Amino acid sequence: MTRKIDIFDTTLRDGEQSPGASMNTEEKLVIARQLLRLNVDVIEAGFPISSPGDFESVRKISQLAGYDATVAALTRAVEKDIVSAADALKFAKRPRIHTGIGVSESHMRDKLRLTPDEAIERAVAAVKCAKSYVDDVQFYAEDAGRSDYDFLVRMIQAVVDAGATVVNIPDTTGYSLPDEFGRRIKYLVDNVQGIDDVTIAVHCHNDLGMATALAMAGVANGARQIECTINGLGERAGNTAMEEVVMAIRMHERELDAHTDINTREFTKASRLVSTITGMNVQANKAIVGANAFAHSSGIHQDGVLKKRDTYEIIDPADVGAGESQIVLTARSGHAALKHRLEELGYEFNAEKLDELYEAFLNLADKKKEVYDEDLESLVNERDREETALYSLEAVQVSCGFPLKPTATVTIKDPQGASVTQCVWGTGPVDAAYKAVDAIVGLDADLSEFSVQSVTRGIDALGEVTVRVKAVNGEVYTGRGADGDIIVSATKAYLNALNRLLSKSL
Ligand code: KIV
Ligand code: ZN
Repeated sequence: MTRKIDIFDTTLRDGEQSPGASMNTEEKLVIARQLLRLNVDVIEAGFPISSPGDFESVRKISQLAGYDATVAALTRAVEKDIVSAADALKFAKRPRIHTGIGVSESHMRDKLRLTPDEAIERAVAAVKCAKSYVDDVQFYAEDAGRSDYDFLVRMIQAVVDAGATVVNIPDTTGYSLPDEFGRRIKYLVDNVQGIDDVTIAVHCHNDLGMATALAMAGVANGARQIECTINGLGERAGNTAMEEVVMAIRMHERELDAHTDINTREFTKASRLVSTITGMNVQANKAIVGANAFAHSSGIHQDGVLKKRDTYEIIDPADVGAGESQIVLTARSGHAALKHRLEELGYEFNAEKLDELYEAFLNLADKKKEVYDEDLESLVNERDREETALYSLEAVQVSCGFPLKPTATVTIKDPQGASVTQCVWGTGPVDAAYKAVDAIVGLDADLSEFSVQSVTRGIDALGEVTVRVKAVNGEVYTGRGADGDIIVSATKAYLNALNRLLSKSL
């Protein structure tokens, strides 16, 4: 039997640190359920001290029924963080506190203003404090990728002696080369006493596009846990992508003497779900889950694949849940079919909410012949957005074309329940609609990104618009909207981003 590599998912914590990818508790619960279907070993559910929303998400994810995964919560090496994490995790079946401190010269000297000995003292105190609440304590040595080898050994020895069960060696800045990072892990294996009784984890960032290679180098040299995210989401250029490392391990199980317990058939669904919820689109040529990952275009390749798939395909698309036959829902489908499909997609609703969704589903099915999974995900997310909105769109009408002046009439219900209408012209229909929204909401935000994607195939597909707006304080908010009419999608997306901005500043 090969070594079991634990998969620690941090989509809900490091992944959420991607600018504009913030998620509410409900959205995090939907993703957490999908992570459980993937059979991840650990879900890092959040950083409880950082906000009441994060605290609540960790608490709710800890309470999800019928699962075996460990739920982890992040802290700094600070007592109040640890107390808050312990509190948020108190209902978890397998709670883990993930505490740590910077270990590179740059972090200790310039950020923490601590001497190396003081940093060790703080780390040991944090591990002991966390140990007083839970048995399973993971220590992260932030910026380990740029730290001094012998200091890292001293730090890791100290936290292992203090009772850490997992030691996480992050390449926080994505600086390392894979060979060197592998040597660093090996150095710990060879020099820290008692290291065989703890799990070494690797947490690699993608600043040089090598996060997956770094994690693999870690595994080849003794790491037994990989921290990763769906679609490689994460701070700056992101983290190691779960789908990439898991499939790489599967392809090279013997050479690496390693396997994972991940249910890889859930990858495509997980990727789509995370992308829909965060508004972070997946590039078409992304490994494993990109739209082109299994598409063959050149004649020579097509000829080869038709003769024998593995001439140009190392992975069977079905193994990652791509190209599965889609269950098609139509206007003739009943409540039960809708409920069943929604549950398969990770959504659970009470009877009242299901009735509302069924009505919205029938409306959509009347317009479209077939309703696909992606349509359903859009529908659910759309309703979620509407329910939590401060300002909601009541109507949008545009007139444009050559030689007309593009004009939009927009009606929005404001937080007091009053309907407000503005008619404004702009350089194009979307510009006109956005100016009308601005005139009603009265916010000063910059539109920094606008993209439109078809949710499914066919001329009647829903168009999903994703926008990012920058608030005056520089914070970025993502908004999404889906509709058969892309002007409506665009207006909904913009209003959704403004609502997120406003609710954050309330
Ligand atoms: O990148 C990093 O070092 C982290 C730690 C908090 C684990 O995200
Ligand atoms: Zn990180």
